[in-house]
Amino acid sequence: MLRTILILGGSAEAQALAGALAGRPGLKGITALAGRTAQPRRPAGALRIGGFGGAEGLADYLRAEWIAAVVDATHPFAARMGWNAAQACAAAGVPLLRLERPAWLRQPGDVWDEVEDWAAAVDRLRTGARRVLLALGRQELAPFAALTEIWFLIRSVQAPEPWPPFAQAEFLPARGPFSVADERALLLEHGIDTLVCKNSGGPTGAKLEAARALGLRVVMRRRPPRPETARADGVDQALAWLERL
Ligand SMILES: NC(=O)c1ccc[n+]([C@@H]2O[C@H](COP(=O)([O-])OP(=O)(O)OC[C@H]3O[C@@H](n4cnc5c(N)ncnc54)[C@H](OP(=O)(O)O)[C@@H]3O)[C@@H](O)[C@H]2O)c1
Repeated sequence: MLRTILILGGSAEAQALAGALAGRPGLKGITALAGRTAQPRRPAGALRIGGFGGAEGLADYLRAEWIAAVVDATHPFAARMGWNAAQACAAAGVPLLRLERPAWLRQPGDVWDEVEDWAAAVDRLRTGARRVLLALGRQELAPFAALTEIWFLIRSVQAPEPWPPFAQAEFLPARGPFSVADERALLLEHGIDTLVCKNSGGPTGAKLEAARALGLRVVMRRRPPRPETARADGVDQALAWLERL
């Protein structure tokens, strides 16, 4: 019997799982995307774009489409969808797995200042920071514009639209991952004393290695809380969980 697996997407892991399911007999993957990106990279298998209308809407969808299991592979900083999925799966009696890449862990020599949100990060920057690299999503920059005494280097794939009213800032369009040597050169060239980022985990950790080598402070946003569910930290573990169902 063909079992349909709903992948809540938006991460590299979701993309990889959709690819892996495409070659598996007996399993059919449908990836759901929120629809925030105009031209998302198309995953293997079926694709559904747009929200479900909260936990109730998702529960209705699970029942209507005879979904056998849900894999929540949304980005580690997508704070809402995991809770909706837990509620919907409990209501519809569908097993749920959280697929999430491991967080970066503090290493000896790291000078990390961990915060819950960007308001706390802004507060921490008020002491000891003069030249700061913001390695964040472009929609997350606005709170930092309040810090008029600080010079910011803003690195993201696209420029923020609209541009927040920074007193002193330079924009650097760039898409990672970057090498440790390049990150180190960038930090030195711009005289950066503090790096601000979120604990996404995965392949963009070279900046942390470079900051460690230079003894720079990192203001690191922690991941948001998630519901208790079965967990996998890679595609192989997720496939093993699906095979056991
Ligand atoms: N937040 C980040 O830093 C970040 C970074 C990279 C990628 N993303 C991806 O971008 C998407 C939106 O992020 P967010 O932070 O706004 O998420 P969120 O706060 O967890 O979700 C907000 C709402 O967006 C809809 N939604 C989220 N993920 C969905 C999915 N995979 N399929 C269908 N609907 C989805 C849901 O709407 P309904 O209630 O109507 O169902 C949800 O209630 C996520 O899929 C995430 O994986 C987020």
